[in-house]
Amino acid sequence: MSDTTPTTAPWWRQAAVYQIYPRSFADANGDGIGDIPGVVSRADYLQALGIDAVWLSPFYPSELADGGYDVADYRNVDPRLGTLDDFDEMVSGLHERHIRVVVDIVPNHTSDQHEWFQEALAAGRGSAARERYIFREGQGENGELPPADWQSVFGGSAWERVADGQWYFHRFAVEQPDLNWDNPEVRADFLKTLRFWSDRGVDGFRIDVAHMLTKDLSEPLPSQAELDAMPQDGNHPLIDRDDVHEVYAEWRAVFNSYDPPRTAVAEAWVSTPERRAKYAHPDSLGQSFNFDLLVADFDAPSFRSIITDNLAQAAATGSSTTWVLSNHDVTRHATRYGLEPLNGRPVKQGTEWVEAGGPADWLDREGGLRRARAATMLMLALPGSAYLYQGEELGLHEVAEITPDQRQDPGFFRGSEYDRLGRDGCRVPLPWTTEGSSFGFGTNGAHLPQPSWFADYAVAVEDADPDSTLSLYRKALELRHRLQTDEQLEWIETGRDDVLRFRRPNGWEVITVFGGEPFPLAGENVVLTTAPLLNGAVPADTTVWITA
Ligand code: NOJ
Repeated sequence: MSDTTPTTAPWWRQAAVYQIYPRSFADANGDGIGDIPGVVSRADYLQALGIDAVWLSPFYPSELADGGYDVADYRNVDPRLGTLDDFDEMVSGLHERHIRVVVDIVPNHTSDQHEWFQEALAAGRGSAARERYIFREGQGENGELPPADWQSVFGGSAWERVADGQWYFHRFAVEQPDLNWDNPEVRADFLKTLRFWSDRGVDGFRIDVAHMLTKDLSEPLPSQAELDAMPQDGNHPLIDRDDVHEVYAEWRAVFNSYDPPRTAVAEAWVSTPERRAKYAHPDSLGQSFNFDLLVADFDAPSFRSIITDNLAQAAATGSSTTWVLSNHDVTRHATRYGLEPLNGRPVKQGTEWVEAGGPADWLDREGGLRRARAATMLMLALPGSAYLYQGEELGLHEVAEITPDQRQDPGFFRGSEYDRLGRDGCRVPLPWTTEGSSFGFGTNGAHLPQPSWFADYAVAVEDADPDSTLSLYRKALELRHRLQTDEQLEWIETGRDDVLRFRRPNGWEVITVFGGEPFPLAGENVVLTTAPLLNGAVPADTTVWITA
């Protein structure tokens, strides 16, 4: 029997964190939009799943130009999602169940409905209110051209002209003006926001585009081509600047003024693992998302080198690494791994998928899910924190059956650098039961259309099936709690380049067969398998956990 001495390390180092996209999780008031009381109503479900923490995507007042990542008031709850009292009830209900709460902070930009931006529009050029954002005069004889040809992430110009002729910078949607992080008032206000939620009992923060806040906007502004050609080495005018860590040093002081210290994880899509490590430094945010598995093929050599590199990098920083296979911004991994024509890559050719007649033509539904279960169980056995995205525990596939008029993602309408279908397909409200107007999500429909096949993946169905993906996740999370001690991993050579095997402390071993022939076992004690064994061997696209 393995030694299951509980670790005394901080909880976040090896937590299983479940991402809730609140508008699509559970709708308690029947308006078709998920809400905070909906989360409260599912607290027992979350506890039974066996996660250590939830991370809630934004639930703040928002006009929803970008799914809530356009925040109009950082210290409140969107009235459509509830009240601050509801939020407090949620925190205490989750804490009673030993589930910690992480909230999303969106510091790069506000909503254009934020009172600061409205004030800036009214106050006019040269005002202190405009200094909270990035306003510039345009080029051309009458300033009719944008200050630079910069493109926004969602497509189109990153500069928008206002009524009096000035232009403002928006890295994302037009409705998301970038803040000016050189302005002390902006810095002070976010410290206030961090304290506000910490005082309400929040345990940690996920920091949206943490690598974009500070900027060098000295004139003359470079062109987009020049920006693209510049190294992202800490001095790039817009991305991953070293001086952003001065902001996070101030945040760290706030986090550490609480007992226990509040945690933070950076969403930082930066150029190298070394650059990512800066965000994971204990004087900065403390942890950083590692998206390497999320963008990898289901392929043994790729997985092995990603795991090795990230564990080495985490050891060098003193932080722990993080793992993610799905989130609210990407095609669900069950679908990615089932898109054979794309060799399991993220769906960049999204429109072709639809033009070809939808998932029936393109998607190996069963194979994709089988590989997703194998990949997730490998991930859950790795040292570090594992982030799970709502619905993946049901084995949900991406929803392709959303017509253009039903879509919400600004990226879909503006031809974004995210995939061309946009991100709505992973944000469709969850199926809880097989019936009703929204499969138990609420009592009155859902804000994105749920396909009929959602019934097969409903919680009620999977709850009753010991072989369901939900049952597999519950079992794995329960075992992980018992088996996980310190953060070591040792590779065991298998003699095959399509089979990975590693050992964690106390005799916990994991084998993943990525393809090809079954891998024979020699009487090992298998405690979990993602697919039935074949004559005592691990078949293709399968992970097993073994204990001593
Ligand atoms: C990253 C978030 O994950 C994404 O959903 C959002 O659109 C952008 N940041 C802008 O806030």
